[in-house]
Formats: sequence, structure tokens, C-alpha cells
Amino acid sequence: MTAPPSFDTPPPRQSRAGGEVQAFDTLQHVGIGLSHDSRLYSCRRLNLLLADTQMLYALYKKHHWLMRGPTFHQLHLLLDRHAEQQLAIVDLLAERVQSLGGVAVGDPRHVAEMTRVPRPPDGVEELPAMLSRLLEAHETILVDARDAARRVAERDDVGSEDLIVSEVIRTGETQVWFLGEHLVHTPLTRA
Ligand SMILES: [Fe+2]
Repeated sequence: MTAPPSFDTPPPRQSRAGGEVQAFDTLQHVGIGLSHDSRLYSCRRLNLLLADTQMLYALYKKHHWLMRGPTFHQLHLLLDRHAEQQLAIVDLLAERVQSLGGVAVGDPRHVAEMTRVPRPPDGVEELPAMLSRLLEAHETILVDARDAARRVAERDDVGSEDLIVSEVIRTGETQVWFLGEHLVHTPLTRA
């Protein structure tokens, strides 16, 4: 008869973890006609945008869940839609880093070390504070994205420039517009 499992000792490991085959912030060769230096520079800029975009995604989900007040339903849905759009950008940025031969930042703890987006309080803020926090995160990303787009293009990486402009900047600017409209005072009843 087999002895019952003991909870005093850790379970055996299923397999030994292998060593890294490629370190973070290094490149493997890809034959796309871009220099090593250009690809490395792009990967660094893209990984910073990737970290910030992952935090923006998480911020949208947090506020989607914690939303309250008379505009709850409308904002609950809007923030979730913005979160979905940001999650799609996360995937595009990560896969761009990989296609340049780099290593995309993936683990949330690594993301937290890299991001420039400030950590929100763990509790619930007032609605205007939640929206302002999202707007500030957007602005941080947009300022960095415009600089990154310009500089990767200077290094011939127009593919990354296109991704940053068409996805990060355009989507971010549209989301800022939608959020901003909710901060404009609108009376609930007509005089
Ligand atoms: Fe939800």
C-alpha cells in the first residue's frame, strides 16, 4: 500500500530547470538586413514601451474592476475595451522584439522593475483620480513613444517606427480622447 503524500516536504520537481539559452538584453542573429546595433537599440526601446504598456493594461483592468458611481456601467465597459486594445499592443510589441532577435520582457515582476508608470495605491481611489492616473500613464507612454519612433527610424528600423506610430501612439491618443471626455463636467439634468 502506498503511503499518503506528506505535506511536510516539498513535492519533487518534475524536471530540472535548464539554463538560459539567451540572456535578456542580448540578440540572436536574424537576417533582416538591420545592423546589430540598430536591432539592439530598438529592442531596448520596445521593451521599455512593452513594460509600460503592460502596466497600463493592468491599470485599466484594476480600474475596470474597482469602478463605482453613477457612470459605473459605461466606464466599466469602456475601460475593459481599452484594456483589450492595450493587451493587443503588448503582444505586438513583444513579438516585434522577438522578430528583431531580442528577448521580450514577460514576467510581471520584471515588468515592474522596468516600468516608468507609477504604482497606484492598492485600494480604491475617487473616480477622477482613477481617470487622471490612466491619463498620466498614457502621456508617459506617448512622450516616450514619439521619441522612440523618431530614434529607431534614424537607425533604419522603420518597421518598429511603424508599429510604434500606428499602434502605440494612435491607439493611445484615441483612448486619451475617450477618457478625457469623461472628465468634462456634464450636468445630469437639463435646466
Ligand atoms: Fe470584466
